[in-house]
Order: sequence, then structure tokens, then C-alpha cells
Amino acid sequence: MKRVFSGVQPTGNIHLGNYLGALRQFVELQEDHECIYCIVDEHAITVPQDPKALREHILDVASLYLAIGVDPKKSIVFVQSDVPAHAELSWILTCNAYTGELFRMTQFKSKSQNKESAPAGLLMYPVLMAADILLYDTDVVPVGNDQKQHIELARDLAIRVNNTRKKTFVVPEGRFMKEGARIMALDDPTQKMSKSAPNVHSRISLLDDANKIKKSIMKATTDSEGVIRFDVENKPGVSNLLNIYSVLSGKTIEELEAAYEGKGYGDFKKDLVQVTAEALAPIQARYEEIRHSQELLDILKDGAERANAIAVRTLQRAKNTFGLGL
Ligand code: AQP
Repeated sequence: MKRVFSGVQPTGNIHLGNYLGALRQFVELQEDHECIYCIVDEHAITVPQDPKALREHILDVASLYLAIGVDPKKSIVFVQSDVPAHAELSWILTCNAYTGELFRMTQFKSKSQNKESAPAGLLMYPVLMAADILLYDTDVVPVGNDQKQHIELARDLAIRVNNTRKKTFVVPEGRFMKEGARIMALDDPTQKMSKSAPNVHSRISLLDDANKIKKSIMKATTDSEGVIRFDVENKPGVSNLLNIYSVLSGKTIEELEAAYEGKGYGDFKKDLVQVTAEALAPIQARYEEIRHSQELLDILKDGAERANAIAVRTLQRAKNTFGLGL
């Protein structure tokens, strides 16, 4: 069976972008792959976090993994900082990465923009992500397409070590959805939907109640044409809403365009509010059951043990390749 690894930062509650771009794949893949899903808390501290809130968000994200259908009997679910090998392999890979390739990363450029001095962790973020992936001999990495450049770096580092030293790492492949791979912010469809954007109406969190969903969707930026048509270049707001509607309802974009011919944005948005609330209701019900349970803590403890058992083997292989330790 091929092995799958992916993770989400506990920087806030999971939104529709995370869900439609990445997490949806987690559930689908666990049927015929060996899956390892991580809550990447070490990535989260590349920007300042309140320690209390971070702990809560770790449990929120873990609960949401389970609530969307990740099954801990089929998949390993764990917290990154519970497995020390991530940080250790990250250092070995850091010594094999070039500063030039890290400074070229678009996520680093956008997150360090307007900062007089950026934390070094922001620059090293993709190396830590490469360590996460390579540690588990991962074949497939399901992510949103904003992560393409980081997956490319993980591949380059694996190939570089394998070719210049000796075969140490499995070279992973990214897996991207056709629809939903990039969900845009509701208030600015030129930016991706993001957990940490200051405007809460820029995103729909999986835990938003019906009122918040309604407000965010009704406020969403569209255009003055008043026609429901998919055209990313000229109608990015409407196209983004069509994309969300299509994935959540299972209807094609063409079916939706036909259904809303002659209708206005108001009708379209009202229906999208309903479709979204209905899609999120069962996830929210399951989340409430699990979030404060002992079961959740047991799943994470068991997941950390199982992940650690795999990770230490790969780390030892990498240490042997570089002659580290005795
Ligand atoms: N807007 C998006 N559309 C599709 N996929 C997305 N992903 C993130 N935003 C979108 C995918 O979700 C997974 C988890 O992302 P992450 O939390 O590890 O980091 P991120 O990409 O930086 O997500 P955010 O929400 O924008 O977080 P903050 O604001 O903290 O930086 C990844 O697979 C990602 O591709």
C-alpha cells in the first residue's frame, strides 16, 4: 500500500479552503492507502502564537480531522511536536538546502513582506515540511495547490541527498484536487482563503454557525454584471462561489450556470448559504461529541507512538547517511 502524509497548522479553525483543497482527500485516501495525518504545531510557531490558544487549536484541528471522517483505526493521527524526529531531520535537511531556494518561496515572500526582520522559522518552514514528509517514506502528499512549491522542494531535497550521498529517502508526489484546489477569500477573491486573515468574513470556518455562514456569504464580493457565470479572470468572486457551491453540492459548474440563468446574485447566494450549512451540520455535530472527550486524547497518544516508531527508523537511516552519532 502506498503511504500518504499530510498536515494542517493549528493556527485557527479549519476553513472551507483547507477542507475542499486538502482534507477532503484525507478521507478518500484512507480506504486504500496507509495514511498519516499530522497537526503541524511546530509550523504554527513560525509566526507568534498565544500558547493557550495554540493548545486549544491543536485539539480543535484534531477533532475536525475526526469529524470530517478520518478514521483513527485506518489512519495515524498525531501532533508533530510529540515526535522529536521532525525537528531532528529538519536540521539535517537544512544543511542540504540552499538559502537561495528558500528565499525564492512565494509563501516566505508574502508572509515576511512589510516586516523589518522576519523570523528565521518562516524561511525554514518548507524544510521542516520536507522533513515531515520524508520522515514517513511518503509516496503521496494531498495538499491544496498553494503548497506546490513546497512539495517541489521536498522532492528536490530527497533527490539531492539520494544522488549526492546514497539512497535515503522516498521521493514524494503532491496530490491536488481538480475542483477546490484553491478556494479564494470571500472579501477579496484575488487572495486565497486563509485562517489568519484579519477579516472573519473572508472565510467560512467548518465550525461557523448558520448566522455567520449567512453573513459571510451574503457579504461576499461579486461584481456588477449580475450574471452567474464561471470566468475566473473577469468574475473571480462569482467563480469562487460557483466553485464552492459545485464541490459542496456535487453539481457541475455547467449545471449551476444553467440553474441560475436569469436569476440574481441574491438568490444564488441564499441557496449557497443553505448548501453550506447543510454540508457542515454533520461535521459540527461529530466535532461536539469528540472535542472534549478522553477518546480524542487517547487517539493522539496512540497516533504519536505509531508515528514515532516509523519516524525513528527513517531518522536513523538519514543519520547513517551523514555519519551522525555513534
Ligand atoms: N484557500 C485554500 N484553498 C485550497 N486549499 C487550501 N489550503 C490552505 N488554504 C487553502 C490547504 O490546506 C492545507 C492546510 O493548510 P495549512 O494550515 O497547513 O497552511 P496554509 O496553507 O498556510 O493555510 P491557511 O489557512 O492560509 O493558514 P494560515 O493563515 O495560518 O497561513 C494545505 O494542504 C493547504 O494547501
